[in-house]
Amino acid sequence: MTPAEAAVAELRGALPADRLIAGDADGLEPYGRDESDLGLFPPDAVVRVRTAEEVRTVFAVATRHRVPVVPIGARSGKSGGSLAVRGGIGVSLERMDRILEIRPEDLTARVEPGVITGRLQEAVEAHGLFYPPDPNSLDLCTLGGNVAENAGGPRALRYGVTREYVLGVTAVIPTGEILRLGRRTIKGVAGYDLTALLVGSEGTLGIVTEITLKLLPRPRHVGTALVVFGSVGDAARAVSRVLAQGVIPRCLELLDDVSLAAVARTAPGRFPAGAGALLLVETDGNDPDQVLGEIARVADLVSAEARGEVLVAQDEAQRREIWEIRKYLSVNLRAVHPLKLSEDVAVPRSAIPALVERAKAAGAGRGLAVATYGHAGDGNLHCNVLYDTPAERPAVDAAVAEILRAAVDLGGTITGEHGVGLAKRDFLEYEQGPEVLALERRIKAVFDPLGILNPGKIFPGG
Ligand code: LAC
Ligand code: ZN
Repeated sequence: MTPAEAAVAELRGALPADRLIAGDADGLEPYGRDESDLGLFPPDAVVRVRTAEEVRTVFAVATRHRVPVVPIGARSGKSGGSLAVRGGIGVSLERMDRILEIRPEDLTARVEPGVITGRLQEAVEAHGLFYPPDPNSLDLCTLGGNVAENAGGPRALRYGVTREYVLGVTAVIPTGEILRLGRRTIKGVAGYDLTALLVGSEGTLGIVTEITLKLLPRPRHVGTALVVFGSVGDAARAVSRVLAQGVIPRCLELLDDVSLAAVARTAPGRFPAGAGALLLVETDGNDPDQVLGEIARVADLVSAEARGEVLVAQDEAQRREIWEIRKYLSVNLRAVHPLKLSEDVAVPRSAIPALVERAKAAGAGRGLAVATYGHAGDGNLHCNVLYDTPAERPAVDAAVAEILRAAVDLGGTITGEHGVGLAKRDFLEYEQGPEVLALERRIKAVFDPLGILNPGKIFPGG
């Protein structure tokens, strides 16, 4: 018997029968892929846990047999964080999907990790409340995955990322402790901020089984506008001017010329000749005049660079139409080149034009087109290297490596929201340096002395 087989046999005896998927390659395969394009890495078995105690049981068995444990959420991750690269036991949180409570008087919610992000948003909105983090996969991704990756999204510009909303978590760590970290209050500075350490730890320090989230009152009005520019440089200058003048819209999304050309193919005549970039602007608040006033102020601030009028959505249908440009961008890019590798670097906002240039050059030198779009308001851009056949992959990887290094050289980071995972572990040292990396490895060893939890992620070579 292999160690994994021995572990599975022991788990079969220790947990209710419906928890375990094992010995069924077809059943395991879906747990072996995500949205990273890194390949298929199914675990040897999956346990669909219901409680923190069951997670503890898995760790105890895995520790005895020295087999890996890999937390698995909705598998919408883009950096390979949930892939079982060394096999082992997948811990799926899909059945821990209860919203435990929403407390309007405290502006908090308590949830299990398998709750789909969009579902929580709808549930709190019914109470007049708001959970801002909005990864584009919000109809699919789960809050546990969002916590693991510290997910962002377009609204992060005004509202911040997942970490800003996590007040506390319950986490089970490989040594077997069930830890209640953090608080339910808005303020609280007792001890080290271990909650913040867990958020964004990509499933390498512990498995989160409960999350306490901070909520906001829901802004009652939203204004959406579309602005066309002649070039990315013009759009980026407009972004800087808007922010520097004290207007922080909730979203400032950018599409570069390659992205825009892909969109324009499906809507000929929609954009004026010479259009080389788009900005999608959204503001919100409780007073409709103030919301529209803010859009008007943005329109005024960008007028020097913009081509033509700023298009302000007059109703919900027009809002949707504007957002559809962004929503279907991936599909439209794939219509031009069927394959793409999408990065999520972030740079200081002043470096956006330089990043777009360097990303283009990294592709052009290898005969590849690069489409850059994303959350320009906070400098977090998705550079997509486009290609047609798998044979081009080595050139694509080389272009991506150049883009990641360019982001760091421009004062930025290799990942603004998708995580390091498997995809970017060879680049972390370039960003953080050997001392920081060594400290992070020591922290990992405190939580996981045997290295059984999600091995092969974040750290180069291991
Ligand atoms: C987006 C995802 C890929 O912003 O982060 O589209
Ligand atoms: Zn994004």
